Amino acid sequence: MSETQTDGVVEAPSTISKSKSSNGVEGVYMPNDAVVENANITAYMRSKGFSTYDELYQWSIKNPEEFWTDHASELEWFQPWEKVLDESKAPFYKWFVGGKTNIIYNAIDRHVKTWRRNKLALIWEGEDGTLRTYSYHLLNREVSKIANVLKSMGVKKGDIVTIYLPRIPELPLCMLACAKIGAMHSVVYGGFSVEALADRIDDSKSRVLITADSGFMRGKFVELKKIADEAIARTPSVQTCIVVRRTGQDINMESGRDLWLHDLLALPIASAHCETEPMDAEDPLFILYTSGTTGRPKGVVHTHGGYMVGTYTTLKHVFDIKEEDRWWCAADPGWITGHSYIVYSPLLTGTTSFIYEGAPNYPYPDRWWSMIAKYGISILYTAPTAIRGLMRFGEAWPSRHDLSTLRLLGSVGEPINPEAWRWYHQVIGHEQCPIMDTWWQTETGHFMITPTPVLPLKPGSATRPFLGIDIDVVHEDGSSCEANEDGLLIIKRPWPGMLRTILNDPDRYVTTYFEKVPGGVYTVGDSARKDEDGYIWIIGRLDDVIKVSGYRLGTAEVESALVSHSAVAEAAAIGLPHELKGNAIHTFVILREGYEGSQQLEDELKAHVGHEMGPIARPERVEFVTSLPKTRSGKIMRRVLKAQALGQDVGDISTLES
Ligand code: WT7
Repeated sequence: MSETQTDGVVEAPSTISKSKSSNGVEGVYMPNDAVVENANITAYMRSKGFSTYDELYQWSIKNPEEFWTDHASELEWFQPWEKVLDESKAPFYKWFVGGKTNIIYNAIDRHVKTWRRNKLALIWEGEDGTLRTYSYHLLNREVSKIANVLKSMGVKKGDIVTIYLPRIPELPLCMLACAKIGAMHSVVYGGFSVEALADRIDDSKSRVLITADSGFMRGKFVELKKIADEAIARTPSVQTCIVVRRTGQDINMESGRDLWLHDLLALPIASAHCETEPMDAEDPLFILYTSGTTGRPKGVVHTHGGYMVGTYTTLKHVFDIKEEDRWWCAADPGWITGHSYIVYSPLLTGTTSFIYEGAPNYPYPDRWWSMIAKYGISILYTAPTAIRGLMRFGEAWPSRHDLSTLRLLGSVGEPINPEAWRWYHQVIGHEQCPIMDTWWQTETGHFMITPTPVLPLKPGSATRPFLGIDIDVVHEDGSSCEANEDGLLIIKRPWPGMLRTILNDPDRYVTTYFEKVPGGVYTVGDSARKDEDGYIWIIGRLDDVIKVSGYRLGTAEVESALVSHSAVAEAAAIGLPHELKGNAIHTFVILREGYEGSQQLEDELKAHVGHEMGPIARPERVEFVTSLPKTRSGKIMRRVLKAQALGQDVGDISTLES
């Protein structure tokens, strides 16, 4: 690079110019005039008669209903809504009440009536190099066929279908097929394993499970069907298991229960025409399980109407989607990031969404960069952990590829460290691409704190609340914190894509999110601070959720996996900082009588957690201990374990059992 560098910040002509921030520490990256001029958000701002983003934002939080209505009106409804927001049963909010639509109508049906029929909706590359593409026309046919197959099995409006697939096109296709006929999908991430899958099937009582023979990861098989067989054996509800052939690996097929998808698609019932089911705006679209503070994962419920409007609006304005874009959200469809920004919102905005099956560094560390060049990707959205992981291989790998099609970059999942931000900005974005650091959650459905391409950026901050979103950082009594004071992040007003409840547990919905801080506000579970410019800096989780490589895991699930091993009497899990993963899981185990700690047992316990929960939950360390710090009521004080492990002051331990 020819530019001169000072303090790691590049002084060079670029689309983002740099100036000192108010605190003078971090560089502030100013948006480029041309980007601002052409941004979707600028057009919207002008249409509302505003000349600055601040004015637009202030108006949007005073008139959120009008803001969301403007965007809901860009989508099609079978029947218009009577009321935008119904707060009469708060916190059970309703959006677009009385409206009838179906997210599939807007994601697929309306496009096939226009020239977009022949535009690519999905491009998929397998880890082995296989290429599959779907125009909107073909997507419509394939989704309709699967929808007809599901219908022929008696799946109907309101049923829950569990989907446990690798990152192959059938994953989005099956999700879309469920939504089309009004069934809810419950996708379980393909990296989860037996107990995690069984728990999720059990809670949703799914009758139908869709899985695959196996998947590919770094050239090896991930044996999904084998895991599914074990999970089905632990739960009574599954009667039918539809199996997608991906690898051709030899697997067990249980007669009367297991059916190949390709056999079903060859039957006359699998016609390529299927009517899209009209749904109430508030009808559930899907369940997605996420880890919470205690116990089993929570089935977060999202709807057809509000979720559709929220994901559509945020993708359109934050990543500034234009007709000619090629969008790559490099997450897995099995997590909310994938649901919202691989599957639904790219289709709602009529863009082309790219999906890659495998590992970023397989077979070489330039796999991602070669695909950006090959497919002409214009927007890349990924997680800090992936950036850090690829960064360690050095600049030579990206620099041998033409990345000039990129115009915007994105980050999600955990705070991005400034080194990774700068590498992403300089080496991948060639200083031409603003970085959209988006903060949100499974529960929020869509971006909540995020820049748009017109905002100045501060590396490491997700910047400011999105339009229509009212956010604050407060003390436990609900009073606002001072600038730069740490506090609890809260969301003050409802938003369209918010979760509506927790499946089978509405009380837990209320107590988890709406009773932690007075005033009926939504408590996020993160600590944060707001600086003097109103920029929000996320610090981390306040509860027993651990973010490992951006994945959200509950200590409770890891602990219960450990305790299910015959050698373990009690277990505690904590997250400790890790250079690549952000956090890594460390566990403390009390053994049963007759067992003794050894390296062999440590390895066995790690493998056991991997088998029960999945490789992402595999602990970094298992430490054998004879006691665990507990409160008098018997709750493990993970905070104390963490402070001890980090060599910090353990703080107030007055409630510690003596
Ligand atoms: C938690 C939610 C929804 C996307 C993927 C994660 C953390 C998420 C950021 C960000 C700092 C972030 C928070 C949040 N988080 N995005 N840009 N900066 N922290 O969804 O698995 O439900 O996890 O991820 O702690 O509460 P999730």
